[in-house]
Amino acid sequence: MAIKISPSILSADYLTLADDIKRLEAAGCDMLHLDVMDGIFVPNISFGVPVIKSIKAHSNIPLDVHLMIDRPHRYIKEFAEVSDWLGFHFEAGSDNAELLKEIRKLGCKSCLTIKPCTAPEEIFDLLPLCDMVLVMSVEPGFGGQKFMPQSLDKLSALRDEIKRQGLNVELEIDGGINGETAPLAVKAGATVLVAGSYVFSDEMTDRVKLLKSL
Ligand code: DX5
Ligand code: ZN
Repeated sequence: MAIKISPSILSADYLTLADDIKRLEAAGCDMLHLDVMDGIFVPNISFGVPVIKSIKAHSNIPLDVHLMIDRPHRYIKEFAEVSDWLGFHFEAGSDNAELLKEIRKLGCKSCLTIKPCTAPEEIFDLLPLCDMVLVMSVEPGFGGQKFMPQSLDKLSALRDEIKRQGLNVELEIDGGINGETAPLAVKAGATVLVAGSYVFSDEMTDRVKLLKSL
């Protein structure tokens, strides 16, 4: 199965975002990763529904929305309207099973995200409700951090369990992905690579192509 690439716009220059999205589509990106931060669940604030709505109106690329917000059920309907893949954190204080079901009911693909402190075993019983699981390979909140190698074992454990349960769940990795770490993540079981600072550079097209070739 071909690896999917989901560039994170967190490292973008927002004034030239429209051009960058066109370049990313032309380079063969599969999704666009949108990091929503509330300054409470994570110590940073990014953007919300209005920005995602504009991106959706401008592009056909599926939107992969990563909510880093406290008690995400409070805003799920609004985000479902502008998302294709909609993910939230296991640790964020919602009823995880109910929220995964609601996301599917609202017509989006459901994604459950785990922070570096969460063991993969904690979400095994939720896997049948997930279309994707996102493993954070940095502490959520900021781009440009160093990849945590401990996340590789988590990917493998999840890959094995998804197989054991006979499920079709994408396995996404987010944080510190570049030309060196991406092959390791793919080998450990990742099927979707998020990359922010690595892709948003002068070599955007070449770097997307390199990631896609893995
Ligand atoms: C961090 C975000 C990431 C971030 C990744 O909390 O979830 O999506 O943009 O950035 P890089 O690829 O630079 O680590
Ligand atoms: Zn993210």
